[in-house]
Amino acid sequence: MSLQIHLHSCRDVAIRSVAREIATLIRNKPHAVLGLATGATPIPLYRELVRLHREEGLSFRQVTTFNLDEYLGLEPTHPETYWNFMHRHLFDRIDIPAANIHMPHAQLAEADILSHCEAYEDAIRVAGGIDYQILGIGRTGHIGFNEPGSPADSITRRIHLDAITRQDAAPAFGDLAHVPKHAITMGCGTILAARKIALLAFGESKADIVRRALREPVTDQVSASFLQNHPEAHFHLDPASASALG
Ligand code: GLP
Repeated sequence: MSLQIHLHSCRDVAIRSVAREIATLIRNKPHAVLGLATGATPIPLYRELVRLHREEGLSFRQVTTFNLDEYLGLEPTHPETYWNFMHRHLFDRIDIPAANIHMPHAQLAEADILSHCEAYEDAIRVAGGIDYQILGIGRTGHIGFNEPGSPADSITRRIHLDAITRQDAAPAFGDLAHVPKHAITMGCGTILAARKIALLAFGESKADIVRRALREPVTDQVSASFLQNHPEAHFHLDPASASALG
């Protein structure tokens, strides 16, 4: 199969459908490995997974997770670290053991970056690879933080954040000057190795980049376009994000 587009009647319907898929995966395979994303888009998905845990007994006790990315250089107490984001929205509200959670570190000495990234790739391999990868999409077309120019076979590494990405993050940091300039991100190759991928994009602000990712030729200038070549990639859209597809 090739890439599939799911046009949902609204965001919440899309969220429920993706959450149901994840729940089914975990019930069939309690040791499932999930790839997780940050940003505003997956917040309602995490809310729904928490509801499934609390109200329908969905257990994450044996699940392993790998997050896509993390800002470099933030203090551990900074509210915008993806570590804190994930704990706030998901990990502190479900029964996943701390040892099963994997995220790139925000605080790394220059000399440790390469080995940290290699260890992250190894940990994904040792866990058996990612069964289900959740993605959002940035205005530059990035998945994770794979900014324009990221090769299809790139692996976990340090990336210099694009000016547009930093601008988009500025409100959360109060000021552009406070937005980190670098991040650690899984590579496009790391992401494309996942067995199944669900990219979520909602709202009009995503319409143009969704069109470029889906309707233009595959290019390293829009890393989400690499998903066109993945056998199990699914775009979950609402009418607004799908509005430029024609
Ligand atoms: C950040 C994250 C991406 C995310 C993107 C879009 O750059 N690293 O993983 O997809 O933002 O965020 P939002 O969902 O808030 O539009």
